[in-house]
Amino acid sequence: MKPRTRFINERLRQIKKANLYRTLVYNKVSGPYITIQGKRLVNLSSNDYLGLDTTYKPSQIQSSSRLIAGNDMSFKKLESNLAHHKSKNSALVFPTGYMANLGAISILTQKNDLILSDEFNHASIIDACRLSHAKKTIYKHNDMLHLEKKLRKKAQRKFVITEGIFSMNGDFAKLDEITKLCQENNAFLLLDDAHGDFVVGKDGKGSADHFRVAKNVDIYTSSLSKALGAFGGYIAASKEIIDLAVNTSRPFIYTSALPGFLADFALKRFLSNREKNRHELEKKTRQFRKGLQSIGYKIESPSQIIPIIIGDEKNTLEFGKYLRNNGIFAQPIRYPTVNLGSARIRISVTNWLSEDIISESLGIFEKAGKKFGIL
Ligand SMILES: Cc1ncc(COP(=O)(O)O)c(C=O)c1O
Repeated sequence: MKPRTRFINERLRQIKKANLYRTLVYNKVSGPYITIQGKRLVNLSSNDYLGLDTTYKPSQIQSSSRLIAGNDMSFKKLESNLAHHKSKNSALVFPTGYMANLGAISILTQKNDLILSDEFNHASIIDACRLSHAKKTIYKHNDMLHLEKKLRKKAQRKFVITEGIFSMNGDFAKLDEITKLCQENNAFLLLDDAHGDFVVGKDGKGSADHFRVAKNVDIYTSSLSKALGAFGGYIAASKEIIDLAVNTSRPFIYTSALPGFLADFALKRFLSNREKNRHELEKKTRQFRKGLQSIGYKIESPSQIIPIIIGDEKNTLEFGKYLRNNGIFAQPIRYPTVNLGSARIRISVTNWLSEDIISESLGIFEKAGKKFGIL
């Protein structure tokens, strides 16, 4: 193990020494029983107090934290697939991607550490940084000189946190340069790839794979609620980091588990033929992007998230209203999700859109652009 990760083992050793070490045991809940390692036991650990709906089956919801009776068998298969997907030893599913960020960032960063966070990082990263006792500093969006300068600051440990594909801009983090800077400065890299995961890179392995730097990412966080169209979040990292998460991550320990049937559903989606869908999405994104560009919009996003930056908040709302009145729902995005004065219409391309729907939409965007003086 590299020396810089020794602190993780040291913390695990202290937990074990104090007899506070926890491991996950998989189970299946059915009525008053819970089956653990093949043995059916009476379940006195559920929070399903009223026991209301006994006829409902995909499967009974465990109604408990994962460290108590909520660790449905389906997590085992899902997590081993997700770990393999990210070429990491382990993965851990959280109820949401938001909680995965809270969980991952809070367990790793401590008082004398320094977090370096991209200016445009998602609210869940910002909130996780607020919860952390580490010092925080924001570097300008994708500005490598700024990041490099900030990395020169002294700290016990340094953690760079970035999204892979930025949720409101659609651009990629410069992961080739970021990983290099992290290595040069002995900093950890946490990559939230909620929008690149399952979409870009070989077999949809995500943004880091797209840049061929996956082996230099220390911790991934992601959502199962975006490209997989399921629900939940996860982190993927070394076995030691996941072990630390199981033992110390409050958003993992002190909340009810994701229902097992949702973990099953996510796994089904994960195992489906995503390759075909990924190619189709690339094609549709190209069609939408080129269409907008040929009308005259200045579009820079290389991904399926295509923002049309309008700037003024009021104009953006009116632009959105015009689209809605003409049959299109594309959400106007304003402060605090993005900076003041950089309001935008955020288009996300999906495979649900047929070529005809895309052409019709482009026609409406053309009229809207002219009406609002953007084109
Ligand atoms: C970059 C990013 N990270 C995390 C999340 C949170 O994911 P979830 O919706 O699964 O909580 C989102 C969702 O909006 C996101 O865009």
